[in-house]
Amino acid sequence: MRAVRFTETGPSSVLHVDDDVPEPHAGPGRIRIAVVAAGVNAWDWKVRSGLAGIPVTAPRIPGGDAAGVVDEVGDGVTGVAVGDEVFGVAASGATAQHAVLAHWAVKPSALSFATAAGLPTPAETAVRALDLLGVAAGRTLVIGGASGGVGLTAAQIARERGVHVIGTASPSRHDLLRRLGITPVAYGDGLAARVRPLAPDGVDRALDAAGHGVVPDLIALTGDAAHVVSIADFSAHGARTTDGGEGRSWDALAEVAALIEAGRLEVPVASEFPMAEAGAAHDLSESGHAGGRVVIVVG
Ligand SMILES: NC(=O)c1ccc[n+]([C@@H]2O[C@H](COP(=O)([O-])OP(=O)(O)OC[C@H]3O[C@@H](n4cnc5c(N)ncnc54)[C@H](OP(=O)(O)O)[C@@H]3O)[C@@H](O)[C@H]2O)c1
Repeated sequence: MRAVRFTETGPSSVLHVDDDVPEPHAGPGRIRIAVVAAGVNAWDWKVRSGLAGIPVTAPRIPGGDAAGVVDEVGDGVTGVAVGDEVFGVAASGATAQHAVLAHWAVKPSALSFATAAGLPTPAETAVRALDLLGVAAGRTLVIGGASGGVGLTAAQIARERGVHVIGTASPSRHDLLRRLGITPVAYGDGLAARVRPLAPDGVDRALDAAGHGVVPDLIALTGDAAHVVSIADFSAHGARTTDGGEGRSWDALAEVAALIEAGRLEVPVASEFPMAEAGAAHDLSESGHAGGRVVIVVG
């Protein structure tokens, strides 16, 4: 099968397309899909660049998120059949003609494969972080990086749960946040002072979905480090962090897809790249300002 691979960590130029890669097969409890699109996440370029500290000792296919058509069903799997359209998280690399999924949900027919490929990591991470925060209806939540893949998903789920959401983003994305019912604010120095007038009753919880040193401001705003969760800054500052090691929220895949299908949530795709331009896809994600999900179309 064709797959994007890399054999050593480094810049995006280490990614190349191989035409003769052995196909993976679905073991027990798993399914295999003919991949139509693979989503690019920060983790993908962090592993590829070496930043994640994961040694690469053999050719490796990047990517975890994928959408496609089921073509093998492993022993013990029920509720899904060959030919079904699904999206989920790959146990093998996702940027390939076939990928074995460990977790998946049915893709609503109204969702494109590109949109579905962009969902798994943002959806799972957003729900996991919000559940950890335990923010209740009627309360105010500040999100650092509300225009990002995880942040924008979390902001809209929180809004659906009746939460008032204030979110940081670059100015070019403030209109999008406003349209989605999220109060935008610029990130950077002086954040706490900019947020206070927007939250006259105070800030109850805060989520750092972008990093860049925002956690101390979020602790100042909530008044309690226990009311702040970061997915991107593990230096902590006393705030709680989550990397999924403590448990995953896989039901989020179906929950978020249903919200999109119902027109209640948007996860915009910024750009679609062919496999041969996987490096450019990684570079756009790594820019930190992709303006939506980055997707590699597999063909
Ligand atoms: N712990 C976990 O389980 C987990 C899971 C998924 C992701 N993550 C991590 O979470 C982070 C976000 O992931 P993502 O996929 O949502 O990324 P993304 O889509 O690239 O979003 C990046 C966000 O950061 C904002 N940003 C960029 N530069 C900034 C700066 N200097 N100051 C403040 N905000 C800035 C962007 O705002 P503008 O675009 O408006 O400029 C955007 O909202 C990454 O570090 C990723 O590794 C962690």
